[in-house]
Amino acid sequence: MYLGLDLGTSGLRALLVDAGGKPLGSTQNAYSTSHPHLGWSEQNPALWVAACTRALEELKARFPQQLKALKGIGISGHMHGAVLLDKAQAVLRPCILWNDTRSSEQAALLDQTKGVRELSGNIVFPGFTAPKLMWVKENEPENFARTETVLLPKDYLRFWLSGELKSEMSDAAGTCWLDVGTRSWSNKILAHSGVNQSQLPALVEGSEVAGTLKAEHLSAWGIEQPVVIVGGGADNAATACGAGVMNEGQGFVSLGTSGVILAARSSFSPQPETAVHTFCHAVPNRWYQMGVTMAATDSLNWFADICSQTPEALTNELDIQLKAPSNIHFLPYLSGERTPHNDSVIRGAFVGLDIAHTRADMTHSIMQGVAFSLRQSFDALCATGADLKKLLVVGGGANSRLWVEMLATVLNVPLELPEEGDFGAALGAARLAMCGAIGCDPLDVMTAPKIATTIHPNKKHRAAYATAYEKFKTIYPAVRAIQ
Ligand code: XUL
Repeated sequence: MYLGLDLGTSGLRALLVDAGGKPLGSTQNAYSTSHPHLGWSEQNPALWVAACTRALEELKARFPQQLKALKGIGISGHMHGAVLLDKAQAVLRPCILWNDTRSSEQAALLDQTKGVRELSGNIVFPGFTAPKLMWVKENEPENFARTETVLLPKDYLRFWLSGELKSEMSDAAGTCWLDVGTRSWSNKILAHSGVNQSQLPALVEGSEVAGTLKAEHLSAWGIEQPVVIVGGGADNAATACGAGVMNEGQGFVSLGTSGVILAARSSFSPQPETAVHTFCHAVPNRWYQMGVTMAATDSLNWFADICSQTPEALTNELDIQLKAPSNIHFLPYLSGERTPHNDSVIRGAFVGLDIAHTRADMTHSIMQGVAFSLRQSFDALCATGADLKKLLVVGGGANSRLWVEMLATVLNVPLELPEEGDFGAALGAARLAMCGAIGCDPLDVMTAPKIATTIHPNKKHRAAYATAYEKFKTIYPAVRAIQ
């Protein structure tokens, strides 16, 4: 048995899979994000530990015999966060998350530093870990001075499970401290951001063993044999492992909290100027490139909150059939935007509201704005040389068939929905655990799922959505000019 833990932005999923890699059962435990100031986004790592404890209690109650036979654990998690530990390995302040934009000035400074883009393969985005530490140095000097270790979110969970301070390539690539081509910490970039390599964890590949489960957890979970913990992966890399996206030509689109279009790459060939990320994959000798729109389901969740509704209730107000494009344009920049704008200051907008418009029209425009924003990521990704003729679609938003059809129409590529439930990153993490525990070749384990349905671009509305997309692209510069 193997366990995949996925530390998501809105909750932790724990998935148990059998020796053949088949999912047996999963649990989901939610936690919240605090926004103490506009643009800030934080989580207390104690929430992750509590969610993980609850998840394992639930799995133990439901699958006691299977959990007893556990051999390996893989962990995936939201990227770029900064968990600061003091000398006594206690957490110094809440974790600053990937969608926190407070460190935009520090990011711009580091981004202008010669050699940083070349080594890291990326624009330095404010969400990355390095500018966060520069912000802490300037604004919370006492916390900075006491920082003995900097960990990524899922690596903190590993520390709690195993006592080991370790990270792996795919998550380390999102710090901006990694030389992404050679897969090693870059002392050159570290020096520019005031952090020392001794403050960072040692690195393994995602499929390599990084530690073992502590005795106290073994006894709490009723396990007698040793359990290895592998490196695991950043959420998008782990999702790619779960979806079998390992080779050139393979990719997925994720309608999660953030929206992502990802393409697997067999070599390191960054093009930071496109605002596409180039990161290490969670298995050796592989990389991936992706475009990110910051608020995908987050945009719908935000609107649902304002309307005191659930996102499902809002999407249920729309026709099942795809309609012509909405004449309201929504810019989904609630937390700024990465691809293609690299703009942490820009904020969202509804453009073109009419007295006759309804809540359902606004919901439609939100789904459309997210789809257009993903199209911009897709265009940027294609400009880097990625050749994607179809995409697997994953993430919570994929439960809306209408949204998937709208996205297929906007991207003008077929989208494939996997047959089994969407286990995404948790399944990828469990597969990485299997590789580390029994030493199998990751490329043999990371197979593509069976496809339940392929959603094709809607022929009737394709041209109209293409025209609306051209209009959408003109709105960002106009809104930018007045913000
Ligand atoms: C990727 C990114 C998000 C987070 C949260 O660069 O910031 O996808 O990992 O999912």
